[in-house]
Amino acid sequence: MYDYDLLIVGSANADLVIGVERRPDAGETVLGSDLAVHPGGKGANQAVAAARLGARTALLARVGDDAHGRLLLDSQRAAGVDTVGVLVGGVPTGVALITVDPSGDNSIVVSPGANGRLTPADVRAAGSLFHASRVVSTQLEIPLETVEEVVRTLAPGSRFVLNPSPPRPLPSEVLAACDPLILNEHEAKVILGEACVSDKPEDWARLLLAKGPKSVVVTLGGEGSLAASSDGVTRIPSVPVRAVDTTGAGDSFTAALAWRLGLGDSLADAASYAARVGAVTVTKEGAQVSFPTATEVAALGCADPGDDLRTPGRRSDSASGAVSQDGDR
Ligand code: RIB
Repeated sequence: MYDYDLLIVGSANADLVIGVERRPDAGETVLGSDLAVHPGGKGANQAVAAARLGARTALLARVGDDAHGRLLLDSQRAAGVDTVGVLVGGVPTGVALITVDPSGDNSIVVSPGANGRLTPADVRAAGSLFHASRVVSTQLEIPLETVEEVVRTLAPGSRFVLNPSPPRPLPSEVLAACDPLILNEHEAKVILGEACVSDKPEDWARLLLAKGPKSVVVTLGGEGSLAASSDGVTRIPSVPVRAVDTTGAGDSFTAALAWRLGLGDSLADAASYAARVGAVTVTKEGAQVSFPTATEVAALGCADPGDDLRTPGRRSDSASGAVSQDGDR
C-alpha cells in the first residue's frame, strides 16, 4: 500500500506576471498591467494540481529562505500537499517572469535559483518518499543529473512520468523509464532532433516511442492530444472553453494524467480526463490559483460547452491539455 498517489520532483517558482496587449518583440518595450505575484513552477504546479483533484501528493523541491519560498510553501500546504520533501535555504527561490496577452498565451523566462540546487544527493536522501509513492513525476526545470537520479531511485513497481519542459535531448536511461513521456509539438521536435522526419504528429508519436518510452502523450493544442503505446496511437479530442490564461495548464494536465494512470485508468481515459482538467485551468488567471477540484472538472463535463463560450472574456478557444501544454511557454 502506498502512502502517496503521486510524488512530484521538480521546480518551485514565484511567478511575476504582467498582462500585455501584445508580447514584445526583440528590442521592443511595451507597457502592461500591474504586477501580480503567484505561486508557480512546473513541479510545484503539478503537486498543487494533483492534490486539489484529491490525490495524496508529496513534493520534493528546493526553495530559498525568503518571501517567495514562504509563498510557495503556503500554497502547497493549503492544497494539502505533503511538504516534508521541500528543502529550504542556501539560494533565492526560483522566479518566472511571465507576460500574458489577451488571447491567454504567455511567454516565460525562468531564473532557476534554488531549483538549480536540487541535487542527486537530495534525491537519494528522499528514498523513503520514493518507496511510498505509486507514481513519480518530474520535469526539466531542475538539473538533468537530478532527473537521472530520480530514475535510478524509483521503487520497483512505481511508475515514472516525465514532461520534458523546457526541452533538451534526453539520455536513453531516462527515455526508457517514461510511462508516459508527455510533451507538446515543440518539445517533441527537440527530443526527436534529426529523427523528426515527418510533419504528422502520429508519426512523431511513433518515432518517440521508438526512442524507448513505454508510452507517449503528444499534446496538440486545439487538435487535442495523441496517446501512444505498443497498443497503437489514439487521438483524444480537445475540450472547447474560453481561454483567459494558459499558464500552468500543461502542469495540471500532466498531474491529472499521472494521477489517473496510478488509479488504473487506461492511457486514453487518463488523457481524456487530463484534457478536461487543462480546459478548466485555462479559464482562470494564474497557475496554481487556477487549478480545479474534481467537482469543478465534473461540472465541466456536464455543462453545455456553449455556456463557456458565451461568457464574457478575451476570446473563444478550443482548449485541451494540449492547449495548456503549448500555452506554458
Ligand atoms: O508551466 C508553467 C510554469 O512554468 C509557471 O508557473 C512558471 O513558474 C514556469 O515554471
